[in-house]
Amino acid sequence: MSGKQSGLYTVVANKPIDDGAFRLAVAWENAPPRAGQFFLIKSGRSSVLLGRPISVAHYDGYAVHFLIMKIGTGTKELAETREGETVFMLGPLGNGWSDFLDRTPQNGKPLAFVSGGLGCAPLLYFVEELAARSSPSFHFYAGFSTASPKLTGMITSLPVPPQKLIVTTDDGSDGEKGVITDAIDVGAYAAIFSCGTTAMLKAVAVMCAKAGTPCFISAENHMACGVGACLGCAVKTVSGNKRCCADGPVFNAQEVIFA
Ligand code: FES
Repeated sequence: MSGKQSGLYTVVANKPIDDGAFRLAVAWENAPPRAGQFFLIKSGRSSVLLGRPISVAHYDGYAVHFLIMKIGTGTKELAETREGETVFMLGPLGNGWSDFLDRTPQNGKPLAFVSGGLGCAPLLYFVEELAARSSPSFHFYAGFSTASPKLTGMITSLPVPPQKLIVTTDDGSDGEKGVITDAIDVGAYAAIFSCGTTAMLKAVAVMCAKAGTPCFISAENHMACGVGACLGCAVKTVSGNKRCCADGPVFNAQEVIFA
């Protein structure tokens, strides 16, 4: 079980990675989080009220690892935390990718993981989770704004590396120049698991609907309580508003109504 906890936890490593992002590792002696789940995190001496929702990118048996972009006060404060300092965390929260595996047809086709930017984080952990119980057959499509060698290296050094890795960059500095959604034929896959911007997820969802390929997405949303109480993270779906934090963050893309 991965019951949620809250409190101050010790930073064991904090290192810059690509393009304004950093990798934060925090000691975690509780049950392992599930792939797809997230924590609300803020610096232990933060001036901000709310923690940022950050998906788990890796769990090494001792610490949970997060890939975070410096984009506001809360994440800048997190970027400045040093080993031995504390962060406040609430989690693990939400559902997991594996809740949707039984909706993936066994048709001999591989899976495809499709990410934009740091959207690769929860998919990296999903591969680790799958690799712990089988040898998944999958292709990884990773779109970045510019060459991101450390993130790309995390994909190629997964315990089971992808049979095929396709990288695109907006500026052409690595892989194909362009957007990742132009690089994929979704009909070639048993199912698509995707995380990135809402625009990217919508594009993937539309392509999958046309091809009849099951598609599961991790939705990005503003969050406050993180536990389903404030209704501040609504995701529109065909069966009404769902709470991203408690009913998601992973959803069947064909049930989500994109703006
Ligand atoms: S953040 Fe409060 S209900 Fe989701």
